[in-house]
Amino acid sequence: MSPGDLEETFIRGGVVVIIDVLRATSVLPCALASGAARVIPTDSPPNATALLATLDRESTLLCGERDGEKIEGFHLGNSPLEYVPEVVGGKTLIYCSTNGSRAMIRCQNVAEALLASFVNAGAVLERLAGMDRDIIVLCAGNHGRPSMEDTALGGLLVDGLLDADPALLPDDGALIARLVWQRWRGDVPRLLRSTSHGAYLASLGHEADLDFCSQVDLQPIVPLLRQGRIEPGVRRAQTAQAAR
Ligand code: MLT
Repeated sequence: MSPGDLEETFIRGGVVVIIDVLRATSVLPCALASGAARVIPTDSPPNATALLATLDRESTLLCGERDGEKIEGFHLGNSPLEYVPEVVGGKTLIYCSTNGSRAMIRCQNVAEALLASFVNAGAVLERLAGMDRDIIVLCAGNHGRPSMEDTALGGLLVDGLLDADPALLPDDGALIARLVWQRWRGDVPRLLRSTSHGAYLASLGHEADLDFCSQVDLQPIVPLLRQGRIEPGVRRAQTAQAAR
């Protein structure tokens, strides 16, 4: 339900699905779909700025948020609507967000980690289908606490995986997440508006981001995190209905 629940040894052998619906793991599939070359997650604005000093400034952008807003001196904030091809095409993105990039950093050394949100849920389910490994769904949560939007998306994935293979053995956390998804299935826009971080983003005027992040199966891309870099992994051939 949140990164604090995880033990490093537990995640090492499996495939980890990192979720931060509002907004990190909704933003990054869109950035990669818009042609960003790679994303490097960092844990703090000073570390992001220090990393920029070691890279080519022409082809690198500082991106992310603190308290939901663009960080001073950064090129981009954390609205998926900012990550358009004209801005991010061909660029390396140094990415720093409050909860999402920290969850990514915790998974830098796992065999396989990927990013999921409602916008790429169907492509993620396709990637996970038939995996012969433990699947760990890691919700970034909100300042160390669970968040309902991440839990609901986790439940969508559990639901889809169990539909495809009823022999899977979900743990209790997975079953709780599935119940949350069953409550909100069919009303993702209202779900996002009713959570604490969703309400906070709306209070900052970011309603358009909530609408964007509530679109199921918009993107065919599954971002993969390997050795500290996120790159477009598999691109799904066509949009499917798996997650609806
Ligand atoms: C986070 O990493 O906590 C989020 O993506 C925050 C946000 O975008 O508001």
